[in-house]
Amino acid sequence: MLRDHRDRPVDGGDWFLHHGTDVETRWDEDVPHLTPNDRFFVRNHTRPPVIDVETWRLLVTGDGVHGEATYSLADLQAFTSTTVERALECTGNGRKLFADQQGATRPGTQWGLGAIGVARWTGVPLRTVLRHAGLRDDAVQVMPVGLDDPFVEDGVDHGRVRRPLPMEKALDDALIAWEMNSEPLPVDHGFPARLVVPGWVGIASIKWLGELRVTTSIVDSPWNTTWYRMHGEGWSDEDAVLDVMPVKSIIDVTGRLEAGRMSVLRGRAWSGEATVSVVELSTDGGATWQETTLTGPNEPSSWVEWEHAWTPSQTGPHELVTRATDSRGRRQPVQAPLNDDGYLFSASVRHPVTVAESSLVSSPAGTPGRPAPVG
Ligand code: MTE
Repeated sequence: MLRDHRDRPVDGGDWFLHHGTDVETRWDEDVPHLTPNDRFFVRNHTRPPVIDVETWRLLVTGDGVHGEATYSLADLQAFTSTTVERALECTGNGRKLFADQQGATRPGTQWGLGAIGVARWTGVPLRTVLRHAGLRDDAVQVMPVGLDDPFVEDGVDHGRVRRPLPMEKALDDALIAWEMNSEPLPVDHGFPARLVVPGWVGIASIKWLGELRVTTSIVDSPWNTTWYRMHGEGWSDEDAVLDVMPVKSIIDVTGRLEAGRMSVLRGRAWSGEATVSVVELSTDGGATWQETTLTGPNEPSSWVEWEHAWTPSQTGPHELVTRATDSRGRRQPVQAPLNDDGYLFSASVRHPVTVAESSLVSSPAGTPGRPAPVG
């Protein structure tokens, strides 16, 4: 039976931090490289629609295709499928840190850094379906439309969740996905099919796909004119529309930290449309930096784990900071660019920790202690 996060049984605690219709993955539990489906953050404007897969059809329409086409799930699955490991991250991920680190509280879901997950998505490239449907050479964009209820705010009906995707990205690596980590898409994540737009703001990856409106002219929606764009001092119309996600990093676990004893610090880093080149760690609040070791897979628009052995010499409070640089040469700034809605918090995150006195009763020197949460 398919369930959504509201009726998931809680086994010895909750995997999530709750924010109304949204849930955030907790970093104070070990999160594996691939985020399990039942621990993957959820961002829903309203509620997941109830969809009968037998009657569900994806409609491809608009003046950018020669005629209309409809596809059942079986039709989509008859195309050659592909599987990719990619992150999905909410544009507002880290919004709470604007308040915590920059003294600038911003309205909206107060995400920590858990509005991101990495999954292996299986589906068909969007370009395959668009071309099959008769894509015209002069088509400039696709408007994917979700089947969830229209989004109503302050009495204004903004219609179904939808956001234009420029044709260049649509024909590049966007995917119509029906599987997440080898399982059918869970209801919360877009069953039976959703877009996955690698490296782009999460809102681009429209869930519960109902329509792809292909057009030869630019058509906007409130999801690119009102929301999910930069507003406020210093932003002009040209640089305000949000697409590629910035480079970010976090510390997952430090272990118990003791003076004179080696601990292995671990974390991860990610970037939109790029791989991570370097993750640096500072144990003195950003005064000096050391390069960490990257471990495991390092795919573009996904995350990579890092680790670093540290033997603190002094007890007391320390501030750990990480700073990632990606393959496009983008590096995390000290301060994230301010904007009215608190989008794209990209700055280095500060982790205060306390180094304890050396203790002989815990694990022997050189052995990392049991990971203790800091995230
Ligand atoms: N698609 C529809 N139809 N409705 C939505 O509310 N939320 C968007 C996007 N696609 C949304 C949607 C946002 S803002 C994000 S961050 C991602 O879905 C979240 O995907 P997830 O809930 O599968 O993690």
